[in-house]
Amino acid sequence: MVSHWPIGLDALAYGGDYNPEQWPKPVWQEDVHLMREAGVTMVSVGIFSWALLEPEPGQYDFGWLDDLLDLLHDNGIRADLATPTAVPPAWFYERHPDALPVTREGVRYTFGGRGAICHSSPAYQQAAVSIAEQLGRRYATHPAVALWHVHNEYSVPVSACYCDTSAAAFRRWLADRYTTVKQLNEAWGTTFWGQTYGSWDQVSPPRLTPTVCNPAQQLDWARFTSDELLANFKRERDVLHTLSPGIPVTTNFQAALSQCETLDYWTWAPEVDLVTNDHYLVAEADRNHVNLAMAADITRSLAGGRPWLLLEHSTSAVNWQPRNIAKRAGEMARNSLGHVARGSDGAMFFQWRASRAGAEKFHSAMRPHAGTDSRIWREVVRLGRDLGALEAVRGSRVTADIAMLWDWQSWWAQRLEWRPSVDLDARERADAWYAAAYDRHLTVDFAHPEADLRGYPLVVVPALYAMTDTAATNLRRYVEDGGVLLVSCFSGIVDEHDAIHPGPHPGALRDVLGLVVEEFTPLRAGERVSLGDGLSGDVWTEIVARRGAAAVLSYVDGPGAGGPAITRNKLGRGTAWYVSTRLAADGLGAVLRKVASDAQLPARDLPRDVEVVERVGEEARYLFVVNHTSEDASIPVGERAVELLTEETHAGSVRVPAGAVRVVAEPLA
Ligand code: GLA
Repeated sequence: MVSHWPIGLDALAYGGDYNPEQWPKPVWQEDVHLMREAGVTMVSVGIFSWALLEPEPGQYDFGWLDDLLDLLHDNGIRADLATPTAVPPAWFYERHPDALPVTREGVRYTFGGRGAICHSSPAYQQAAVSIAEQLGRRYATHPAVALWHVHNEYSVPVSACYCDTSAAAFRRWLADRYTTVKQLNEAWGTTFWGQTYGSWDQVSPPRLTPTVCNPAQQLDWARFTSDELLANFKRERDVLHTLSPGIPVTTNFQAALSQCETLDYWTWAPEVDLVTNDHYLVAEADRNHVNLAMAADITRSLAGGRPWLLLEHSTSAVNWQPRNIAKRAGEMARNSLGHVARGSDGAMFFQWRASRAGAEKFHSAMRPHAGTDSRIWREVVRLGRDLGALEAVRGSRVTADIAMLWDWQSWWAQRLEWRPSVDLDARERADAWYAAAYDRHLTVDFAHPEADLRGYPLVVVPALYAMTDTAATNLRRYVEDGGVLLVSCFSGIVDEHDAIHPGPHPGALRDVLGLVVEEFTPLRAGERVSLGDGLSGDVWTEIVARRGAAAVLSYVDGPGAGGPAITRNKLGRGTAWYVSTRLAADGLGAVLRKVASDAQLPARDLPRDVEVVERVGEEARYLFVVNHTSEDASIPVGERAVELLTEETHAGSVRVPAGAVRVVAEPLA
């Protein structure tokens, strides 16, 4: 039985990517000394080390890694040992130039950055399995090895490759899915624009076309790409499972990154033993801690509610954004503990020691260029101590209030060309509805549209343009059984092939919402419509005809003036709400307040940026309070509360200073 937690790690995970191959050996000694001072419990090693481990084809140099793992073990630090397959060595590309990926425009990338991989290349697949075998064989029983870290951030910086080898793999994938070319033609609707195929060989990746390429073809290409990378992960994972039974295998996700949505992590998550995630703040964004909370909630949901692990974030600035804003005093701890609050059993960073050379030398680190007489180092040491004080939290589960549907495949579909408005973005709506829930202190689980939703008093559908019949039935049953459903505009429109559901829009949701949408009436840039009650919408409106639903608010002006804008439908024992325009934050808050009252969700009387999340263990519940404001906050607690970071006992309330984090434990019984 494979463990779901790093073997032998009897603490929360604390540490970072450790790339000591950049430094002479005496620095390694200093590193482990400092790691102990900081309370580091685990580091990720070997991530980009293929060229050092296999300097010539088939010739290996493991000496330095032996020494490193021994050193870590001697110092009680566990190792998350990577397979270095995100960067094959220069000699590999010299032998296999075809393994460099090709862009949609037909341009082949060159070596010199990282992650230049055609995932369908047999030469790459063999080489990756072979180096994974070497590592698996050598280190299966090394006492430092706690976790395998396959590859690094699959899909970064390139996921799809449009070369001929990939095209052949795509055809095989399609043949598996559709069996006959006739069925592929039907699924892709190729009678339109005369695209009918007569044989598999005529089918290509969606390479450059003079105008829009068939949307169903593009959607299947996106699915194929996610599957192709997953197949490579599984190849390495299987090798490691065989050679080092019992040691868990992970690969680091980037579950909420809006620029990197090329993997369907719902299909990936069941394949890893421990779900791990990397998260970086959008440094300049206002209230970027909301996106952090969302990333953590998505990752926990991918883990099925089980604890997960934050494998990378930053102590301060990154180096790859336009303006790399440094974190302010206390922000790192709020970030790290914010992830722990939402189910991460630890907090790890990129990277341990700041690099002197290479592309990431301006990226912050645990041990910064400034050395140990620095704010960052002092905060790193303090965080290590704090995580030590939170040991009891390990393994406990987050209590969620509501569910929100999340589907990468639907987004791929919505983002294709020629939609009714370029201004309506699925991810923007998901972020906006999530923020509205955050502001009400509602902890959100994310769910696949076909997942079991029973048990959630409220399910929010922020943007689900593409919806299968199974998902539609799932939502209908959820409402009939007493659930409260809140659906945002342009959802339930097409099926999994990007074909419109039969009948009026929204075909998958008409019955449950008790309405039809006669026409989409998107707005001009900057145009705004009023809904009364002080609310307004922009970007998008619809002509809605009620078929049983009641109008809660109607359009006062705009193309749909006089018609319903927000509706509420009773179905079975439940209720389904529909919002047919793009509401701004105040409107989202107002609607959510009404819907939350239908769902009988309690209201918490706290400032919106005082984040409160609960984890429940076997003996105690842990209330995490992250105060993102510049005012102290007071949180009601029970009579037998112990604050774990200060070790103070409290009865009735706990004061959380401005910018601070507090974790209050209360016995369950
Ligand atoms: C990613 C990578 C790391 C590093 C960081 C920098 O998460 O996995 O190797 O490049 O970004 O922020």
